[in-house]
Amino acid sequence: TIDYTLTMKENVATGLNSEVLEAIDLRFRTQLHRQLEARLADSTYAFRAGLSIAHDELPSIKRFLQENLGGMRNFVVVGIGGSNLGNLVLDRAFRGNGKSIYYLDNVEPDKIHRLFQEINLQETVFNIITKSGSTSETLANYIAVRNVLERKRLPLQKHLIFTTDPQKGYLQEIRQRDGIPTFHIPSPLGGRFSVLSTVGLLSSGFKGIDLESLLQGAHAAANDCLSDSLRTNKGLLLAALYIANYQKGRTINVLMPYSDRLHPFGQWFRQLWAESLGKINRDGKPVGQTPVDALGTVDQHSQVQLYMEGPDDKIITFIEILRHQNDISLDGEIDYFNGQTMAKLLRAQLHATQIALLQKQRCSLRIEMDELNEWNMGYLMYLYMYATVAAGELLGVNPIDQPGVEQGKEYTYALLDRPEYHEQRIQYEKLCAS
Ligand code: PA5
Repeated sequence: TIDYTLTMKENVATGLNSEVLEAIDLRFRTQLHRQLEARLADSTYAFRAGLSIAHDELPSIKRFLQENLGGMRNFVVVGIGGSNLGNLVLDRAFRGNGKSIYYLDNVEPDKIHRLFQEINLQETVFNIITKSGSTSETLANYIAVRNVLERKRLPLQKHLIFTTDPQKGYLQEIRQRDGIPTFHIPSPLGGRFSVLSTVGLLSSGFKGIDLESLLQGAHAAANDCLSDSLRTNKGLLLAALYIANYQKGRTINVLMPYSDRLHPFGQWFRQLWAESLGKINRDGKPVGQTPVDALGTVDQHSQVQLYMEGPDDKIITFIEILRHQNDISLDGEIDYFNGQTMAKLLRAQLHATQIALLQKQRCSLRIEMDELNEWNMGYLMYLYMYATVAAGELLGVNPIDQPGVEQGKEYTYALLDRPEYHEQRIQYEKLCAS
């Protein structure tokens, strides 16, 4: 449920009113929804179509996990950005079977050394995930992993799995030469939209997360996001609420789940929103809303001060889990806790913060889920991916590309003296000297 009543309150200084949302609704119904559907049908926006592919691939993913990884205790995700964050979200949200997942995204030598010392490599599989097959951080981590496996004389075919584009990239060549088991990322699927594909499903399956439920939840969200009106389509509603607030000067979008289990969801959202929408739009104007991830209640003791009394430039979304798997009684020697539980305290903190913000005329909304299970997680992730593409329509940007990120990657290659990037090296040096 998306509860947005508090963004519509008359006494919120620059709150939304029903006319603002009506106007966006009309834009979707008369034009933007048609454009959005055309984009989603286009293969480059494949996350909706990708759901069926993922569903068809489930049996082979499960068979692979059972036949090849049954004896493994550790799974290391080697990937960055969209090839990493979705895995982290699912891993931290669910306990699963107790097996461990580790992450190599950054290229920090000390971190890698420590990991190799901590884990038993005999019981470890490394999943190298890169859509392009050429991202320098991922390839560097791959080299470090491969070298250590070879030094220890561990068979590469048993300890490495590749997940990559079916056609291009270095990993394709290596896989053919060395016979490394390989999963494909459906060609057009962009990194940050790929969690519900082999990219996210392999590590989650290893951990015993219920993949069917996850995909069913995503399918349900896909069905709920078919209509062309904010009244019935929650994805459009979410995009409209965020962008209408942006247009009222709320250039910061804070996502604040009241659950440690959902903390990485904020990091995933941050990448999705920033990398998809922060661009020069079709009218040549720089646009984008800065996403911030926060954690309740922890950030009540830090960032919330700024949200309350700092500039009114934020739209804040709280995420509330209504039923926790476990609760803890607070009966004991603190009087006002008697008869209360920890889940009640968490709920009180969230609602108190939201109303305190309202008192300061600050805008917030609340997403509620009955419990944190795989179905709801699949729903939530799909909803946010869809809302991002819908927000792209409202802002007039292409949410799938990331030209700004590519530029940095090219200069990195130039600094590493890759011959194909000689021109960029000259450009780089000119810019440094200027
Ligand atoms: O969302 C994206 O496209 C990016 O964040 C990529 O996932 C990231 O740059 C890693 O790219 P690749 O999977 O090609 O290694």
